[in-house]
Amino acid sequence: MFKNEDILKQLNWRYAVKRFDASKKISAADWEVLEQSLLLAPSSYGLQPWKFFIVQNPEVRKKLREASWRQSQVEDCSHFVVFTTRTDIIEKDIERFLERISQVRSVTMESLAGFKKSIMGDVIHGPRREVIKWWTHRQAYIAMGFLMETAALMSIDTCPLEGIEPNTYDQILNLQDSGYETIAAVALGYRSAEDKSQGNKKVRFDKNDVIQFV
Ligand SMILES: Cc1cc2nc3c(=O)[nH]c(=O)nc-3n(C[C@H](O)[C@H](O)[C@H](O)COP(=O)(O)O)c2cc1C
Repeated sequence: MFKNEDILKQLNWRYAVKRFDASKKISAADWEVLEQSLLLAPSSYGLQPWKFFIVQNPEVRKKLREASWRQSQVEDCSHFVVFTTRTDIIEKDIERFLERISQVRSVTMESLAGFKKSIMGDVIHGPRREVIKWWTHRQAYIAMGFLMETAALMSIDTCPLEGIEPNTYDQILNLQDSGYETIAAVALGYRSAEDKSQGNKKVRFDKNDVIQFV
């Protein structure tokens, strides 16, 4: 479908944009594809322990920028996505997911009892419980990667942001008591011609240092 050289070209074209051109907006049709990349991202068991907030209100963006080391991308990008994850995974989350499978695949809940037992044994009663927050965060980072790679293939720019105050984000977005908490964000849009970092050479370790065939 995509030529190898085109994929590599786009991956080299992508960089973490420091200055967006605030006058350029992602079209509705392109945004639809980007949204799908979030929805179609894989997660462990398929649980999707996340919610993505697309913040388009300029006043809210202004407040979020203050809680993002004043990084201009928050206000100047076309679309600003805040990644949040469940603060905890409880049996209700697993049931919600199984009900969705039952609905989408037209199977009975009884037929999913074994699957439920496996997830419960791992996520609720098993070793995963100890690291449940990190585990849910990791799931959301996969969606973040999907979003950024899809955007790159579409020649749409991004900047991932961890330079944010998650607790302040939660307050601004009224997430307290929602069962979700902020972990990171991604700004999307089009690079400004004045963004000096676009000329920087990519700094990556040598292939032989990070890829090892066994
Ligand atoms: C999870 C994550 C968080 C990041 N947070 C920020 C950020 O807050 N602000 C920023 O300008 N860049 C941020 N970056 C961009 C990285 O600095 C950048 O991806 C890295 O230096 C490699 O450069 P490149 O993406 O331009 O190839 C972040 C990247 C990742 C993956």
